[in-house]
Amino acid sequence: QKVIKKICCIGAGYVGGPTMAIIAQKCPEIEITVVDLNQKRIDQWNDTDVSNIPIYEPGLSDVVAEARGRNLFFDTDIDKAIDESDMIFISVNTPTKTYGKGKGMAADLKYIELCARQIARVAKSDKIVVEKSTLPVRTAQALKNILDHTGNDVNFEILSNPEFLAEGTAVSDLTNPDRVLIGGQQETEKGKQAVEALVSIYANWVPKDKILTTNLWSSELSKLTANAFLAQRVSSINAMSELCEITGANVDEVAKAIGMDSRIGPKFLKSSVGFGGSCFQKDILNLVYIAKSYGLNEVADYWEQVILMNDHQKRRFAHNIVKTLYNTVSDKKIAFLGWAFKKDTNDTRESPAIYVAEELLLEQAKISVWDPKVKDAQVYTDINTLGSIEADEVDNKLQVAKDPYEACKNSHAIAVLTEWEEFNTYDWQRIYDNMHKPAFVFDGRGVLDKNKLQEIGFVYYRIGEGGV
Ligand code: NAI
Repeated sequence: QKVIKKICCIGAGYVGGPTMAIIAQKCPEIEITVVDLNQKRIDQWNDTDVSNIPIYEPGLSDVVAEARGRNLFFDTDIDKAIDESDMIFISVNTPTKTYGKGKGMAADLKYIELCARQIARVAKSDKIVVEKSTLPVRTAQALKNILDHTGNDVNFEILSNPEFLAEGTAVSDLTNPDRVLIGGQQETEKGKQAVEALVSIYANWVPKDKILTTNLWSSELSKLTANAFLAQRVSSINAMSELCEITGANVDEVAKAIGMDSRIGPKFLKSSVGFGGSCFQKDILNLVYIAKSYGLNEVADYWEQVILMNDHQKRRFAHNIVKTLYNTVSDKKIAFLGWAFKKDTNDTRESPAIYVAEELLLEQAKISVWDPKVKDAQVYTDINTLGSIEADEVDNKLQVAKDPYEACKNSHAIAVLTEWEEFNTYDWQRIYDNMHKPAFVFDGRGVLDKNKLQEIGFVYYRIGEGGV
């Protein structure tokens, strides 16, 4: 059996960094080099102060501190790391295409292809190439073609090993995964050996019965399917939240009642301002595109609805703020508590906060943002990247506060966009005293203590609950 001594991971992002840190921690005999084109990111991973690593995840800096310099390295010399490794993980980004055919839907595979061509050019010995990025089903075929036609006549085995970690809980998800999925060409001897090599790495800490092996296409498609189902649950409960608000039902009570049915289950039924993150939307759009490209229009339409519902939920939240504030928010200050797409991460990609802010800025509101982990510049970048609001206007109207009290001071309303636990620990009386009256709170995550806030005097609105 092939024993893996050196691993290279291309892409030092939210997936490459944490997954390799855990493999390094659990397999001290394997040397792992995580490489990236982005010099700044690599420098941050190498920062002597480990709290400055570029990704915030609970527990991650401890793991990095333990393994870094021992058997975990971060570097920009991609060729060298490829050359020396037995196994190469590709963990680069696969965003939605912003140009050409499939614009706004298909996955942009240019970064993946660049990796494949670089591996083919550099590799002088046999390599196992592992797809860690989320990819359209049948991408392994394209990778294999590129590797075999541009390589130096060495053998490449392709595996699919999609990542199921959730941001905010990456370390515990990686340490104790529900399952690990490995797809490979098990009908050939070399394919089987490659699968076994990767299985034996995970077997250092994951129970064997949680390591599933399948063919390549099932593995690739399972990741898209998992994200589609997860996002669908959010859109399903969010669809009910709107009905609850009109009928006087309470969405948390409904979620609890249905979640106790063991066929439904209680997790992922929290109604909110909408899902965000870099994956759900892009992966469903990708799925929709694939279905359409095979002529499966009903399948495509079915899944697309999950996204349409999510867009509606974000817009609806913003419009409700405008409507409640007497149909105008022009020059009114609205405080945003939270900018990250969920708690315990500094990631803001596709965060609902961005789109709610956009709607309100277009209504000429002033917005003051407080998030415990997101850097000021990121908030501006997120809004400016939308391109829908003049840069001057953004500078005038959008502000990032240095603490929650500054954010809320002199505001007309507070909008909760992320479920950070610290929000409940604030001095809400102090916040109330410094606001315009009536002091409105729009809790887009259903996390604040409603009774306490109402006693203080806030007018409290919660997603999925009728009657402001
Ligand atoms: P990311 O954007 O944080 O990291 C990707 C990194 O790859 C960037 O630092 C970029 O500079 C680097 N890169 C791109 N092309 C490169 C090249 N040719 N050579 C060297 N480096 C290159 O992306 P993230 O979030 O880590 O996602 C990576 C993949 O994992 C995506 O396919 C995503 O769908 C998937 N995924 C993401 C999850 C998440 O929670 N973020 C969870 C599960 C899967």
